[in-house]
Amino acid sequence: MQRLAELGFLGMLIPEQWDGLGLDASSYLLALEEIAVADASAAVLMSVHNSLAFALSEPEAGSDAASLRAQAVRDGDDWVITGAKSWVTHGTHADVILCMARTDTSDARRGAKGISTFILTPDLPGFSVGKKEDKLGLRASPTVMLNLEECRVPGDRLLGEEGQGFSYALASLDHGRLGIAAQAIGIGRAALEAAARYATERKQFGEAIASFQAIQFKLAEMATRLTAARTLLHAAAAAKERGERVTRYSSMAKLFATETAMWVTTEAVQVFGGYGYVTDYPVERHFRDAKVTTIYEGTSEVQRIVIARDLLAAVSRGDIAGHLTD
Ligand code: CAA
Repeated sequence: MQRLAELGFLGMLIPEQWDGLGLDASSYLLALEEIAVADASAAVLMSVHNSLAFALSEPEAGSDAASLRAQAVRDGDDWVITGAKSWVTHGTHADVILCMARTDTSDARRGAKGISTFILTPDLPGFSVGKKEDKLGLRASPTVMLNLEECRVPGDRLLGEEGQGFSYALASLDHGRLGIAAQAIGIGRAALEAAARYATERKQFGEAIASFQAIQFKLAEMATRLTAARTLLHAAAAAKERGERVTRYSSMAKLFATETAMWVTTEAVQVFGGYGYVTDYPVERHFRDAKVTTIYEGTSEVQRIVIARDLLAAVSRGDIAGHLTD
């Protein structure tokens, strides 16, 4: 991570005036894919540094993020936040964390509208890192709970406008989901490359298994789906660079790329047979790493909700022609 930071990977999208590399979304996503081919945990750390390092979810608020309960109460110039945040990537090491908490609990402003975003640092009184999750995959990337017990936050740590925190979170996710799509493609590519290599080396029935159509067709399908996922992702990135709203596009890219990664890694394990099921070869790790991409930064089901809502909003505006596909 230190080396990635020195080389600028953790600030690729930050403008040069603030010591970032000031690169565009496409360059960043290509770099992220390459890092994910080598190590999916390093890729998620790179992704959260470049898009979101945040505490949104709670034990009782996952897909329904707007039901979060952490409360921020004004006390003089400060805010005092109480609550528990879950699934915080790199929460053990992060120096800066964006935290969503409810600043208005009155009936009229319940749900998404009463949420604000705060910039937290671990030195704040009442801030502590809780349980570290023992995960199926991405085992080199720490994921933790954060406990906020009357955590006193200076007033100038409120980010943007009070009550707009949920919109900021969803806007960050529009961008973050592109990164998860790139990560998923990288994981899938690593699995495909391992499976293709293995198929030319492994002999059964007197021949390399790559000579059998059953294996060839798997490799062909894996490569085709990954190429389609990358094409969709970079179309979304190009739209972002043109300044367009990419909510639907980024959900499509994340949905398709992550489901593809899960399918490709499953097929890769199959190509390896029994050797795919043990830790002597890397594909079991790719398989485990791929799974979370269909869950975090919004499950596949949430991506379908986002896509369908956007699509139906276009229908109700009478804006169908040419607007249901990009
Ligand atoms: N950008 C900006 N604002 C947006 C937006 C977007 N893409 N989408 C919606 N909004 C605004 C809406 O306009 C609305 O504001 P107004 O009422 O003023 O118009 C407000 O946000 C609420 O929007 P919705 O009514 O659509 O909200 P909802 O409660 O119905 O939620 C949801 C919809 C799509 C299911 C959303 O809750 C969601 O995306 N859930 C998944 C959350 C998620 O991805 N969590 C992952 C956390 S990060 C993680 O995984 C850990 C990690 O570190 C990797």
